[in-house]
Amino acid sequence: MEELFLNRRLREIAGKSTVSFHVPAHNGGKLFKRLGIIDYEDGILGIDTTELPDTDNLHNPQDVIMEAQQAASRIFGSEESFFLVNGTTGGIHAAIMSCTSPGDKLIMDRNSHMSAYNACMLGRIDAVYLKPSIDAQRGIPLPASEETIEEAIQENPDAKAVFLTSPTYYGDCIDIERISKAAHRHGMALIVDAAHGSHLGLSSRLPSPAIRLGADIAICSLHKTLGSFTQSSMLHVNGEMADRERLRSLLRMLQSSSPSYLLMSSLEMAAFVYEKHGERLMEELQGHIDDIAKEFECFENIKLYEGNAGIFDRTKLFVLTTATGASGYEIEELLRERYNIQPEFSTPYGVLFVSSIGNDGSDFDAVRSALCEIDRLKRHGNHQEIPKYPTAMPKALASISSAFYMKKRAVSLEESRGCISGDYIIPYPPGIPLIAPGELIRDDVIEYVTEALGMGMQVNGVGTDENKSVMVIDMPKRHL
Ligand SMILES: Cc1ncc(COP(=O)(O)O)c(C=O)c1O
Repeated sequence: MEELFLNRRLREIAGKSTVSFHVPAHNGGKLFKRLGIIDYEDGILGIDTTELPDTDNLHNPQDVIMEAQQAASRIFGSEESFFLVNGTTGGIHAAIMSCTSPGDKLIMDRNSHMSAYNACMLGRIDAVYLKPSIDAQRGIPLPASEETIEEAIQENPDAKAVFLTSPTYYGDCIDIERISKAAHRHGMALIVDAAHGSHLGLSSRLPSPAIRLGADIAICSLHKTLGSFTQSSMLHVNGEMADRERLRSLLRMLQSSSPSYLLMSSLEMAAFVYEKHGERLMEELQGHIDDIAKEFECFENIKLYEGNAGIFDRTKLFVLTTATGASGYEIEELLRERYNIQPEFSTPYGVLFVSSIGNDGSDFDAVRSALCEIDRLKRHGNHQEIPKYPTAMPKALASISSAFYMKKRAVSLEESRGCISGDYIIPYPPGIPLIAPGELIRDDVIEYVTEALGMGMQVNGVGTDENKSVMVIDMPKRHL
């Protein structure tokens, strides 16, 4: 190897000291520096160890890992917490399969992260989707309403569990207390994908954490909003609905037998920061958010998304840019190139800034002055034509698990109209499938994907070749 491609790129990025409004929340170590935590400054290689007599074992914890997990469980309000080294992704797989058996029904929001779909595939679980709820004006996938969820619970009394996401990437939350009562009345477990909600509980101005509101399992990406290292998450459990022994087996199966001590130690550190410094840092953050929200009142073109009139996590700052005549992608590029600010992601409609306790006043100053200039842009004069986010429930002709094992062939995106998809079609981020394997590819999906690709969206499952290849299944007639 003559060059260290990845290493060089990472060093270049680290050298730029970009203003970060993206995950992980430690912001290139800035959070730890601010708090005077020097554990990661030197000697990071020295703590990259393995299971030794003194270092315990994640898969059978009896010593320091057990103590660290117990401390986390006390801090976050669970009966038991598990460190995850394969992100919330692995935790979601294990959580769903610990509450269901093959052939069981799982009620899940259609706007779930792809990991929930994959859990259904791995566990051969029959997903009953809640109708997708979309803010079509602003292209924002919303959580299903409480009424819709309760109706699905009533209509599917044989379902074993309910899987919901709260907060969403954009900050919208569900009334978890209400839904947990409804699920429990029907003997169903409530699993909450709280990937974006590890920081909840640090301020009365934020929604409460799902695990404190009656969820049986909540899975939290501490790397996203609390500053543990990328890929490290926690799974919190309460009550008897989840089969704990099965959960333990699944976590052993789905995670490495050599879990990283860097990831685990960073989870312990994030829990420590949450407990010792979290409320103070969150109060500061709330002040910065108040200030920038006031600024938005004076902006003419750009607007701040403040939720879908329900419970909302205001640390997520989705800035709607279309009235400037520019897409979120163009504004993100401008922020990066001209202002050295990196948001989390952009869409045709706007740019998402994930703010966290890792951000300080100087980060917000930089964003404020950049947005002031951007608000005055009005570069293109007319509003840009925005592709319409597909809202219909896809029609499934095969389950995800059976479709996964069927023979597939590649066709161009254009030719895939009316075909059965052999793969997911997923705008990434946010990682919510428009189409899952086994579902019919509709015209509106093709149109949306084609237009959005042209604007700069990344879409998993659509090739980067000229034809924009997608995988389809030729299903025998007897299946149709
Ligand atoms: C809603 C949601 N759930 C789960 C995940 C997976 O989390 P992780 O990256 O920790 O595996 C993501 C990732 O972005 C997500 O947005």
